[in-house]
Amino acid sequence: MKIAYVQMDCRFGDVIDNCNRAVELIRSVDADLFVLPELFNSGYLFISSQEVEAVAEQLPGGNTEQTLTSLAIEKKCYIVAGCAEDDAGAIYNSSFLTGPEGYIGKYRKIHLFNEEKKWFKPGDLPFPVYDIGSGKIGMMICFDWIFPESVRTLALKGADIICHCTNLVLPYCQNAMVTRCLENRVFAVTANRIGFEQRGNKSFTYTGMSQITGPNGEIIHRAPADVEQVHVVEIDPTLSRDKNITPFNDLFTDRRPDMYA
Ligand code: ACM
Repeated sequence: MKIAYVQMDCRFGDVIDNCNRAVELIRSVDADLFVLPELFNSGYLFISSQEVEAVAEQLPGGNTEQTLTSLAIEKKCYIVAGCAEDDAGAIYNSSFLTGPEGYIGKYRKIHLFNEEKKWFKPGDLPFPVYDIGSGKIGMMICFDWIFPESVRTLALKGADIICHCTNLVLPYCQNAMVTRCLENRVFAVTANRIGFEQRGNKSFTYTGMSQITGPNGEIIHRAPADVEQVHVVEIDPTLSRDKNITPFNDLFTDRRPDMYA
């Protein structure tokens, strides 16, 4: 199975342009699964609720989802992408999975970061895992990484590949994903953005270094910090189904939830 991240510079408020560039980047290579950054179509650094409401879309049914679904049908591939979701006025920081048969499902970010708490409602849907035939796809978004429960929950539900849309600004996540993948023996595609956003008196530099991590905690590929690129690696997703780390230690059946209370 060929899996890829799309690392891009998302220009604030330029939904159509960001979407077109993502389409171009996806068209430039062949892969079975592409993962795009968090809020890839809108940019991240909102300074009012009105701004978020103006770019939020219905999921499914919004322009961004429809554009990527058409591309997934045409290219016969799967795409996971992050965007602001408007559900009858409730705004979520969401991601969605779409594929050759059309839209599949969505995730609403459960652990909101920093001022996101001013703009978004916390996710109210369970961590999702979808079987796409070649592998089982789990979704989480950015800051979810710092809660070990996020990847653990997805892995316990059977995910082989964690599709991790991000807009990372702290320097910890890429290295932490080594442990998240090792302790759960799963693959992860951390698709980050690059670039600088200045809005009012606030600014963020996004750290790039998108990463594909394997079930032995190996960094299969890490991107540069400041270049737009798509990178594809070939993996066997079923490797994630062997949870043994020694002949006597299965990381799931050795868990002792009775001792964790
Ligand atoms: C983040 O959750 N966007 C850091």
